[in-house]
Amino acid sequence: MTAPLDQKNMDMSLKHVRKPLAHDSAEKHVRGTATYIDDIVEPMGTLHVVPGWSRQAVRGRIQSVNLEDVEKAPGVVAVLTADDIKGINDCSSAFGGDPVLAEEEILFFGQVVFAIVGETREAARKAALKAKIDVTPITPILTPEDAVDADTTVLPDYQFRRGSPETGMQASEEVLSGSMFIGGQEHFYLEGQIAMALPQEDGGMLVHTSTQHPTEVQHTVAKVLGVPDATITAEIRRMGGGFGGKESQANQWASLAALAAQKTGRTCKLRLDRDDDMIMTGKRHDFKVDWKVGYDTSGKIRAVDMEFLARCGYSADLSLGVNDRTLFHSDSSYFYPDALIRSRRLRTDTCSNTAFRGFGGPQGMLAAERLIDAIAIKLGKDPLEVRKLNFYDGERNLTPYGMPVEEWEVMHDLISQLEESSGYWRRREEIREFNENNAVLKKGLALTPVKFGISFTLKHLNQAGALVHLYTDGSVHLNHGGTEMGQGLYQKVAQVVAEEFGVSLDKVVITATNTSKVPNTGPTAASSGTDLNAMAAKNAAQVIKGRLIEFLCEQHQCGPEAVHFGDNKVIVGDQSFALSEIAKHAHMARIQMSHAGFYATPGITWDRESVTGRPFYYFAFGGACAEVTIDTMTGEMTVDRVDILHDVGHSLNPAIDMGQIEGGFVQGMGWLTTEELVWDEQGRLRTHAPSTYKIPTASDLPEDFSVKLYESSGNPKETVYRSKAVGEPPVMLANAVFCAITDAVASLNPGEVPDLHAPATPESIMRAVQDLRRRKAGS
Ligand code: MTE
Ligand code: MOS
Repeated sequence: MTAPLDQKNMDMSLKHVRKPLAHDSAEKHVRGTATYIDDIVEPMGTLHVVPGWSRQAVRGRIQSVNLEDVEKAPGVVAVLTADDIKGINDCSSAFGGDPVLAEEEILFFGQVVFAIVGETREAARKAALKAKIDVTPITPILTPEDAVDADTTVLPDYQFRRGSPETGMQASEEVLSGSMFIGGQEHFYLEGQIAMALPQEDGGMLVHTSTQHPTEVQHTVAKVLGVPDATITAEIRRMGGGFGGKESQANQWASLAALAAQKTGRTCKLRLDRDDDMIMTGKRHDFKVDWKVGYDTSGKIRAVDMEFLARCGYSADLSLGVNDRTLFHSDSSYFYPDALIRSRRLRTDTCSNTAFRGFGGPQGMLAAERLIDAIAIKLGKDPLEVRKLNFYDGERNLTPYGMPVEEWEVMHDLISQLEESSGYWRRREEIREFNENNAVLKKGLALTPVKFGISFTLKHLNQAGALVHLYTDGSVHLNHGGTEMGQGLYQKVAQVVAEEFGVSLDKVVITATNTSKVPNTGPTAASSGTDLNAMAAKNAAQVIKGRLIEFLCEQHQCGPEAVHFGDNKVIVGDQSFALSEIAKHAHMARIQMSHAGFYATPGITWDRESVTGRPFYYFAFGGACAEVTIDTMTGEMTVDRVDILHDVGHSLNPAIDMGQIEGGFVQGMGWLTTEELVWDEQGRLRTHAPSTYKIPTASDLPEDFSVKLYESSGNPKETVYRSKAVGEPPVMLANAVFCAITDAVASLNPGEVPDLHAPATPESIMRAVQDLRRRKAGS
């Protein structure tokens, strides 16, 4: 662990905040005592729900569903179909189009048509296979290109336009264009989708749900069951990973468990089988990007025209926000004087693609890096030079959507520090030499920037609530609307509350997220969990503390400056009391020691309709330098060395932030190198198990891997202790790996842009290598 403890201008009097403390559950994770939903002791008589689907049908009209044999199968208690839904048969987050159970049509391979409620999961799974579903097939639309031809979309097109890209392009000395495919990504959370619904009195329901968005699960379950929101409670202590895959896509499984519980009056649990999980739930959007760039002979960009064709799947789900974020990040860190950046949200007969760490941003940024690489290769310049030439700066600092990059100096400083510490230019020479002396193995090097906008681009989501109680023994009950998925949110918020009350961390009891404690929350997403919830919890703690101070001032006839909280004590003038003692006195004096805190991010004014205003509170920055070796006979690739410098403002917890940076980078590297989703020509996902879908393992880590926190002077915005969000931005550090592979391939035929697509699997690398060799032979 190399987290620096001497970041600039930090307040050293802090006791808990900014300390590299372990995740609150670290030990429990290792011991196996952290409770996930499948670990909760099942109430007597718990039943098990298994989704039923047609393993033949891809897309088509349902002619008949014969469930006679399913119902008669041993251990089957009930079978659910759309007819059992008393409320509304929809589990979408906003736009509709996501039936809990299919009615007339099968929209994609893997759509749930019915559900079996069995005494055991095994019995229900066996029974599921006995259904006879007769479907008249319809030729499925599978790829973005097919969808463009058929003109089918889930949402209207959207675009940013600045200046006159047409004139800019004409006035440019050079123009380049190309197309790039960017693959999707399976979330591969270690804990799959799961929910357990416990019927309560008067039709109420307690739903344990592995979700990033408990409020949405609560509201969706209520809507599906046809009951008021207030009768449903959703609770989640922790997820075994979410990564965006449980932002909207937990709704269906919670709804099915609740429907089964409503029908049977018994506790019902649904835990998706891994293959079903991979087949049925949405993934990172894959894209075809068509781009054109006009530039001068120095490599400075004049005009950009990009079109992002996204495979959204059968429904809108979160595709609006995801694709908007792609546009918001299609500039990476570069100034485009004239720009037209277009987005098409294409409807395909495949699973409904959804949030995935970076929320569309990584795809936008990768396309920008392709533009830069292409310009550099054509001009015979070093890509890093072209990158820096196009960086936002003091004058050229307006993004295509009109928001200024205020911290452009941080970006420049961070990149030049990394340029230095990674020995970029020395290694550039070494690599040139290596490539000259090696016919088969080729090395590549790239240093790429990250600039990620922090805030939800849907304004109303930028709010949070917390509920804090101080008990008379001096212990603190902490609850907030954010969810824990391994990212360390609970720990960070607990540190902030401990700091506020001046108590040791063991006095702050972290409790499960629960919609009956903090209502109407947004999802834990957009990396803003800490920014929002820590502020709400701080607010709650401050209000309680304020009441105690007022009480003490009255009692001791002193001013508030005489009262200090620290070391589990309260100092009043020259007297010292245990916090528990003060709490008891305050209680006797009938002072309220509980408060619901609230926070709404200031300064967000984005108006999507008019394409004006400010979408992000601030940007998080980072940079990565990657060196790779490719084997031009086999396409094999190794990542030899990676240097990362990442900006988290003043870190709330350097240990957790380092974990997020390392994990995010590796997850991004998996997306761009080994994780390949393959659908067959009928639209069936063929890569639905770890045997065919390869996520990175410990052995895929770069041999030489250095991760450092940027020594920041703190977030210029008033975030919690001047920290910055860290959850998603590190994913995009992995662009350096992709660009380094591009660089290695490009060495085979200088001046020609490799036709490399993501993920850069050995096959993909081999295709790009052979293509470049063909071009060389042809010229
Ligand atoms: N880290 C772990 N260990 N597990 C996760 O599921 N999700 C990521 C990121 N880091 C995730 C994670 C995603 S997609 C987001 S949006 C953020 O965490 C959400 O948490 P935060 O807002 O508290 O950073
Ligand atoms: Mo993260 S993709 O915003 O859940």
